Amino acid sequence: MLITFEGIDGSGKTTQISLLREKIEAFGRIVRVFREPGGTAVSEKIRLMLLDPEMDINPVSELLLFSAARSQLIASTVKPLLEQGAVVILDRFYDSTVAYQGYGRGAVALETLDRINTIASHGLEPDLTFYLKISRDTSKKRMQLDVSDRMEQSGDIFYQRVINGFDVLAAQLKRFRTVDAELDVALIHDQIWAQAREYLSR
Ligand code: TYD
Repeated sequence: MLITFEGIDGSGKTTQISLLREKIEAFGRIVRVFREPGGTAVSEKIRLMLLDPEMDINPVSELLLFSAARSQLIASTVKPLLEQGAVVILDRFYDSTVAYQGYGRGAVALETLDRINTIASHGLEPDLTFYLKISRDTSKKRMQLDVSDRMEQSGDIFYQRVINGFDVLAAQLKRFRTVDAELDVALIHDQIWAQAREYLSR
């Protein structure tokens, strides 16, 4: 089973993923967690380039670098784990590419992006996607103490487009579960666990 988490920076994905992981393990399943971009030696190197504020990367190159990092992680690690029956949780997957590179940057047409995503993910689709929805203001407040990376230097208009991209996906795709991530951590977790447990018990 593949579960993905999506949302803009500061939406609390990492906290919620570790809470969900504990619950699924207690449920008796093996759980592996990876972040995108990342999770393999090659993908972590690509991540360093993508987040480095010193790098000037054009939108198409950015899209292809995120996709290259993904292809490596999915083929070398995620697919084999799923075949062994593990539950894999991804901190971001190709829905981030649609929101950030598609809606945010306008790197390529959305139909083209879908084809690139299918190739980069080796045809893999999530079973469940939790979209942790917060406003741009909340995101900014939560990121205040961080040194911003290359993506986070993109400005309010960009982030508004990214939020809109996630909202469109959430309205279109049945696997999406939108969670109000302005709420408190325990409340958010309860909602996520209720939905994941329902799916695991099927
Ligand atoms: P990260 O520090 O992991 O952010 P977060 O903790 O919010 O997940 O950095 C990943 C950044 O890369 C984040 O700004 C979102 C962006 N991103 C894309 O633009 N496209 C993608 O396909 C992915 C996976 C991430």
